[in-house]
This record gives sequence, C-alpha cells and structure tokens, in this order.
Amino acid sequence: MFFDRPDAGERALLVHCDFFSAPNHSAAALSAQTALSAPSAGSSEPTDQDHTETVIEYAPCVTEFFDLARSAGVDPIDLVSARRKKPTPKFFIGTGKVEEIKALVEQHNIDVVMFNHALSPSQERNLEQELCCKVLDRTGLILDIFARRARSHAGKLQVELAQLQHISTRLVRGWTHLERQKGGIGLRGPGESQLETDRRLLRERIKWINGRLTKVNSQRQQGRRARKRAELPTIALVGYTNAGKSTLFNRISQATVYAADQLFATLDPTLRSVDLPRLGKIILADTVGFVRHLPHQLVAAFKATLEEASEADLLLHVIDASAEEVEENIRAVDEVLVEIGAGEIPVLHVMNKIDCLPAVQPHTDKAGAGDEDLPYRVWLSAHDGEGIDGLVASLAELLGGTFWRGTLCLAPSESKLRSRLYSVGAVTTESMSEQGEYQLDLCFPRDDLARLMASANVPLPD
Ligand code: GTP
Repeated sequence: MFFDRPDAGERALLVHCDFFSAPNHSAAALSAQTALSAPSAGSSEPTDQDHTETVIEYAPCVTEFFDLARSAGVDPIDLVSARRKKPTPKFFIGTGKVEEIKALVEQHNIDVVMFNHALSPSQERNLEQELCCKVLDRTGLILDIFARRARSHAGKLQVELAQLQHISTRLVRGWTHLERQKGGIGLRGPGESQLETDRRLLRERIKWINGRLTKVNSQRQQGRRARKRAELPTIALVGYTNAGKSTLFNRISQATVYAADQLFATLDPTLRSVDLPRLGKIILADTVGFVRHLPHQLVAAFKATLEEASEADLLLHVIDASAEEVEENIRAVDEVLVEIGAGEIPVLHVMNKIDCLPAVQPHTDKAGAGDEDLPYRVWLSAHDGEGIDGLVASLAELLGGTFWRGTLCLAPSESKLRSRLYSVGAVTTESMSEQGEYQLDLCFPRDDLARLMASANVPLPD
C-alpha cells in the first residue's frame, strides 16, 4: 500500500480543537460538516483566545484520540488543545496555534502531527509545509488502524479502496507515492501530465479493486454457506476500540481446550475454533473495534470487517466498564449492530476491566423469572482472567439449549435420514456399531433437528 502510514514507535503530537457556540450560532451550525466549510466571505478570522460561550463537544473525546493513536502504533508525546468558533480555511487552526505546534515539533523531535478532525487536502498540505513534518488527520489515522487490523482479503481490499478514495482528493501529495510504487517511466500515457497519469492509475486501481471485491464477496458467501452447513455455533466479539476484545479472545482460547483448527488458523487469525466446557466446539470471531464519529467514507470498509458479527449465533459485546462514557459507547455499538443486520442476534454484555473498578467483583447478572433466568451481563477482567469461568458458564447457558449435541443410532434401513443429516451438515463424526447400525455424532440447532427427525418419524433422544 502506498498510503502514508506512521511507522511503529513514531513520535506523535496530538491536536484537538473544541468548537464553541457564538451568539446566533446554533449547535447544528457547528456540526462537523459546517466546521469544515470555509468561512463566509468577509467573516473575520477568530483568534485562538478563549471565549466565554458554552463549549460544544462536537469532537470525540480526547482519551479516545490517545487510544486511537496508540492503536496506530505511534507514541503520543503531547497534546495541543485549541478552542475556536470555526476552523480557518488555511490551517484549520489559527496561526498562533500553528506557531505553538511548530515549536513543539522541533523541541520534541516529533515525526507526525495528528489532528482529531478531518482536514481538507489543502489544510493538510499547508500544515505539512509550515510544520516541516508529516500531518495526519482523523480519517487518515482511522484508515491506518483499519489497514493494520484488516486481516481477511476482502477486508484489506475494502480498506485499500477507502484509502485510495481518501488520497484521490490529495493527489498533489499522493503522486510521489504512486510513482515510487509503480515506477514513473512507461506508465505515462501520451500527452499526460504526472497528475493525469496518477489520476488514471488511481481510477484503474479502484476499478480493479471493485472487481476483485465483487468476486471475493461471492466466494466469501460460499465459504460462509459451507461453514453454516457445518453448523458450528459462532460467537463474535464486538465492541469499542480498546474495550479489550483481543485480550478476551486470547483469554477464552487459553481457558478452554484450544482445538487447533488449521483451516481457520491459516485463513484468518481472527477466527478460532475452541472447545468450551458443556458446550463443545464453537467458532470464536474477533472483529475490528468501533470508533466514535467514524468518517462517513470509512463506513463501508468498517462494516466489511464486521461481516462475521452479522452471521454469529451470539454476540459478546465487550465493554470497557472503567471508561467514562460507558452508556454512550454501548449505544453507539448497538446502533451499528442494527445497521449491519445483527440487531436480532442475542447479545451478552461483557463488562471488562473490573480490575480498574475497586468495588466490583466478578459476577453475572441474570434476567428472567425463576428457572428461566438467563445471563445478560458478565463482569470480568480479561487482563487478570478473573470471571472468565463465569463467562464460559454463561455461554453454555445461552447457547447450550440452542444446539443439540449427541449420538444417534440409525438402522441400515434409515439410510435416507442419514443422508439427509449429512446434507444439512449435522453430522460431525460417524462409526458403525457391531450390530451394523450407523452411530452418528450430531451437532445442529435443536429446533431444526427436531423438525427434520419428525418428518422421518424418528424421535430425537433427550
Ligand atoms: P481494538 O483492537 O482497538 O478494537 O482493541 P481491543 O478491544 O481488541 O482491545 P485490546 O484487547 O487490544 O485491549 C486494549 C487495552 O486494554 C490493552 O492495553 C489491554 O492490555 C487493556 N486491557 C484489556 N483487558 C483489560 C482488563 O481486563 N483490565 C485492564 N486493566 N486492562 C485491560
């Protein structure tokens, strides 16, 4: 990929700007969109000085910004905060702030200055020239994280597509990268300027990726169908960035008998097959973290990386219980789950990082009446492993009733039912008894299996 990416360990200076309301300015007028548009003709440029009006939190919180920067593998050295009525067309921030940042860049030997906002291509370019340092905006930063996290072929293609679309607006800066990647000589068409060549190369690459994506998506559909036929229950971990999904993913794998599954191990490290007590073999799927105020051009790439979640039998919504905006984060995740068609899938909330909450012990909250009590929230620490056994027990409770696992003996005359069970993918192993009966180990959704057996007039054992 030829997109500028921060290298691991780069020293970053973070810049966050709060926008405050001025008299006659509604909150809506200060939305991200308006904030990025150029000021109207004749408007005086606001200074960097604080004003007395109410501050409107249109930008994501600063803590998350630090988390995102760390997720991108950089070392955030310092934060520069600014407060403005609106962005300036040239630098986004005022010239005084630019000077302040420039001094800090030199003082701390900064490699990259990251803005917690979307910058226009010219703002980014002007800042780079002025600061003599690489500048990355919020979209670029999130794209970088996606690029690091996208593991499946389709996910990588989606992210590259979003990156290409992002740099197509920044071609003046992008062309040198293209040239380095592709080689300049021999690529230029007759009478084309470098910029035209770059635009053409970009269009060709975008077209190629779109074609690949169509193909890959249909192959993935087939792959999913094949897996669906095997009917192993899938549990997908979803949640906010930094909530602890990957830590929990590894913790659950360790806490259970890890059934090394070459297929998943080699194809996609975010899928793992694990053997859970009282539940048996299931597929555990990790997903990319959610980000607040996701730039709209990244939504497709993000959703592509979430496909596993919309196919899951159960979602583990991992929540950083020690975070400031817990409720808001939960709501944001819920909304996206509905958007990707996962709104109807049962969810278990995992309140993680209780080691950071002094008064909370590992426990499980249940809802329902009497024996019908079912877990809906588990409190644990993925880091310490405290409460993992409670989570595993809850998974068995939630999914155990859904799937029928056991051995079925069929007489040779029942070979039609046997082939039917094979065709739906319900059979995991088979052996032959001494009496010549088929002994089939089955794992299949209980209701579907009961219906299938009833149609063959064979009772389903308890
Ligand atoms: P993304 O990949 O960005 O979506 O993050 P994630 O949700 O996969 O989070 P990850 O597992 O990478 O953990 C994020 C940070 O939280 C890491 O520094 C972990 O060590 C830390 N962490 C995870 N679980 C716990 C926990 O139970 N307690 C504490 N104190 N820290 C935790």
